[in-house]
Amino acid sequence: MKVITLENAAQIGEQLGRFYVDFVKEHPSCVLGLATGATPLPTYQYIVKAYEAGEVSFADVTTFNLDEYCDLPKDNKNSYYTFMQENLFKHLDIKAENVNFLDGNAADYEAESRRYAQAIQAAGGIDVQFLGIGRNGHIAFNEPSDAFTDEAFRVALTQSTIDANSIYFDDAPMPHYAMTMGIGSILRSKKIVLVATGASKAQAVKGMIEGAVTPQLPASVLQQHADVTVYLDKEAASLL
Ligand code: GLP
Repeated sequence: MKVITLENAAQIGEQLGRFYVDFVKEHPSCVLGLATGATPLPTYQYIVKAYEAGEVSFADVTTFNLDEYCDLPKDNKNSYYTFMQENLFKHLDIKAENVNFLDGNAADYEAESRRYAQAIQAAGGIDVQFLGIGRNGHIAFNEPSDAFTDEAFRVALTQSTIDANSIYFDDAPMPHYAMTMGIGSILRSKKIVLVATGASKAQAVKGMIEGAVTPQLPASVLQQHADVTVYLDKEAASLL
């Protein structure tokens, strides 16, 4: 793992945003794995500014998002689909048919998992996977558990995650289930970038980098991937 500690979230957004803009310019048909949450926002804002300045095109880029809530309409304001439209896709020239999400309302979750795995494979695999990290060390929605998962699956969210994310659900209860890429799907990405900002992530970051590899802290599995870059602000790095 390569660890880069910067002053604050804004600096990470600039450095990582620059990386993405350069990567897409060099690889216009690349496949990006994307994340939701507060953490990626500065990076997405940098990318949108570069696009608006005419610096880069996403016309041939394909994306796969990590996860989606179950039992929430796709166009709900809190769906991850809506999050990505509002914060990134609607500002870019990316083609709707190149944007991929897990269907949290699929009738058959196992078939949905197979569909997503096949779509990733047909696209040639994920070139760069963006990850945030949960306070309990989760990546995507892979919660602490007894075994590492492989392909996408339906997960029961933990209380820690419900507590962290329910702030966004001001008019309806937060779903307690989600569809998420599994650990295997994430590890098959050629390159992984993980960003953690703020003191609430410091304990999980310490476990991820310095602790044992254990499904009780899912992000620790990234120690086994050959190309991971972790971007931290000072608070998230404070226990290292
Ligand atoms: C969410 C998402 C993760 C995200 C994490 C941290 O629940 N499923 O993909 O990385 O929790 O979110 P945030 O960036 O808002 O702290």
